[in-house]
Amino acid sequence: MSREDYISMWNTSKHFGSVKAVDDITFDIGEGEFFSLLGASGCGKTTLLRMLAGFEQPTLGNIYIDGQPQAGVPPHHRPVNMVFQNYAIFPHLNVHKNIAYGMRKSGLTKAEVDRKVDEMLELIKLPGYGARGAHQLSGGQRQRVALARALIKQPKVLLLDEPLGALDKKLREQMQLELRALQRDVGITFVFVTHDQEEAMTMSDRIAVMSLGKVLQIDSPTHLYEVPKVKEVADFIGTINFFEGSIRGRRNGSTVIDAAGLGTVHSTAAGADAPASGEITVAIRPEKFSLTFRQPNVQTNVVEGTMEAAAYLGDRSHYYVHVEGREAPIAVASQNAQRLLDAVDADRHDRVWLTWEEESALLLSA
Ligand SMILES: Nc1ncnc2c1ncn2[C@@H]1O[C@H](COP(=O)(O)OP(=O)(O)OP(=O)(O)O)[C@@H](O)[C@H]1O
Ligand SMILES: [Mg+2]
Repeated sequence: MSREDYISMWNTSKHFGSVKAVDDITFDIGEGEFFSLLGASGCGKTTLLRMLAGFEQPTLGNIYIDGQPQAGVPPHHRPVNMVFQNYAIFPHLNVHKNIAYGMRKSGLTKAEVDRKVDEMLELIKLPGYGARGAHQLSGGQRQRVALARALIKQPKVLLLDEPLGALDKKLREQMQLELRALQRDVGITFVFVTHDQEEAMTMSDRIAVMSLGKVLQIDSPTHLYEVPKVKEVADFIGTINFFEGSIRGRRNGSTVIDAAGLGTVHSTAAGADAPASGEITVAIRPEKFSLTFRQPNVQTNVVEGTMEAAAYLGDRSHYYVHVEGREAPIAVASQNAQRLLDAVDADRHDRVWLTWEEESALLLSA
């Protein structure tokens, strides 16, 4: 049985003078989970990771790993290992010696360590590379050696601080898939720091979205995208249109809202949790709109507008539609499932109609 609170933070804070780098955070990370910390530069990701590793002590609150309080436990006595952003491998040692480095004091014989290093080389798909010098490796290979060096000690938890940050896009995407497969193979808990939302979504079981030392929401990638709980999360993950509105009431299980730029909106997105009155922000993702050049035969969740700009991107197109009662155009994304040989001529300012499903109109507190 794997435990769901393998790592626990209880009201954990880290202050540097007046800076609250981590501000009163409480959450659990499950055993074997791939858990990511996502947020803008300076939001406290590295500080949180360094507290888990034991390089920093919390100013307030507690950290538990496998049920054990970690206060006063030095880094080398914690069941964790950290991989840093700028793949720290020793340039003067070959691959074998780099990976074996952490086993110096393990008490294993040389033959036992050699066998473990070979296992690691298989795991990171670099068999036979032991004698290579560190300088004879590509960036991606160096990164994999750094991972092997952390994994050989079989930590229960691997802490990774933007480990793919230095790689170019192609290699980065390949390493994302490899790292995820490797994590499934070895079954250890990964706490992965990134400020790249696509990277976090590709790899993670759950993501904690952070801002200014706080956790805004912890959820699966699909829930963060489809059911953001606050405006800041909706805005940070992907693109979204916000409309200011006020609630008129409820009808047949839907919330009815008057929204600037959309007119009357019917929404089922918030379900029974929706407030019954007051100001609210309606949020709709670009791809949830359907765009037509003829007036659709629907009575609700439809708005008429003018095509202001269009960008053809091959697999999809982006449209910007001006509507009455709203200054910024509405961003619409449409998949080009059919062959589209006549690009939309935005300069003609055609009349267009946008429609959307009730479940796609998210309601966020204003
Ligand atoms: N040793 C320190 N002394 C003083 N302030 C610090 C220290 N370490 C971090 N900070 C501050 O704490 C805040 C969080 O820093 P942290 O390094 O955790 O951010 P981050 O989310 O990892 O950012 P990035 O994505 O740029 O790496 C920042 O405002 C930073 O300036
Ligand atoms: Mg950092």
